[in-house]
Amino acid sequence: MKPGILGIGDALPAHVITNLDLEQRLDTSDEWIVRRTGMRERRHVQGDETLADLAAAAGSAALLDAAVPASEIDHVIAATITPDQLTPGLAPALAAKVGIEHAGVVDLNAACVGFLYALAHAASLVESRQARNVLVVGAEALSRITDQEDRATAVLFADGAGAVVVGPVEQGLGIAGFEFGYDAELRPLLYAEREERKLRMAGQEVYRHAVARMTEATRELLARLELDASEIDYFVPHQANARIVTAVADALGIPHERVSFNVEWTANTSAASIPLGLAAAAREGRLEPGALIGMVAFGAGFVWGAGVSSWKDGPRPVHRREAEKVKTRSR
Ligand code: ACO
Repeated sequence: MKPGILGIGDALPAHVITNLDLEQRLDTSDEWIVRRTGMRERRHVQGDETLADLAAAAGSAALLDAAVPASEIDHVIAATITPDQLTPGLAPALAAKVGIEHAGVVDLNAACVGFLYALAHAASLVESRQARNVLVVGAEALSRITDQEDRATAVLFADGAGAVVVGPVEQGLGIAGFEFGYDAELRPLLYAEREERKLRMAGQEVYRHAVARMTEATRELLARLELDASEIDYFVPHQANARIVTAVADALGIPHERVSFNVEWTANTSAASIPLGLAAAAREGRLEPGALIGMVAFGAGFVWGAGVSSWKDGPRPVHRREAEKVKTRSR
């Protein structure tokens, strides 16, 4: 069974923090933040708002977009490093809120690469017929593990959720493949300790490795799939910094009009970053059915990964069955 992306949804917290807000309480400036990161706004969960609420909102929107009812989801994978509780994980809470009653539910921690790992696992479940449809959610409340007094990180990290439904497709490439890697030697450059629970990062070093690894992983994957970068219709790199996105796109020769620069409004949302970029592109009408999508991410570990998929290939067998049922009834 060929797996593909059937639908997308996203959700952001209502509370917006602008660069001007940050200027009021940190030794920073709108000019510095825009010039060094491309960010203008970020959003934080507030008060009683839970990550499960955000993740469920994104998940429900994805089911609606895919026209797949909750009863046809067999598995839910939540990629996050900031679940509401240490245990239980995010997946059971979000599945219950979405109304998915019978499903496998699991969290996955691979920092900013979490969504791509979740997508790869979902594709395998569908391909091996262990699941009909899988809900994949990337959701983070990074504001909870950010030192809001540290200007080097407080301007960067934010909250949000994005989701896709992965299910069988009959036409097109579907979810075509992934390239993953890691380097544990470099883990001191980006981490959050169990006791302190705050992200610490050697920004410049991370920057250098992020550009190199994201470029390399994309090149390796494209070569394995016998694709050329010029064939990518839309490219969504992890939105950590507009300069990183630009450097990776330029190294691969992908023109900027085909690249996601969602970082301006979302800042760095780790595992939510790629599905938020996809959702924004879909809303802006940039993704035609069958379009070839490139995705790539880099994060704490270090871990990195690239993925290629076509966008909303169809029709799905279940749609055809539904259409046949309607035809039979109307006869
Ligand atoms: N406002 C003003 N000045 C600042 C700020 C700020 N918010 N933050 C740092 N500075 C200062 C520094 O103190 C330094 O001052 P100095 O020269 O007097 O020492 C100067 O700006 C330059 O600092 P750098 O850290 O060298 O700045 P750089 O241009 O590298 O930008 C940044 C920093 C934005 C963090 C960049 O390095 C970056 O984006 N790194 C990669 C982040 C990333 O990719 N993360 C991916 C994974 S995230 C995850 O896994 C959750």
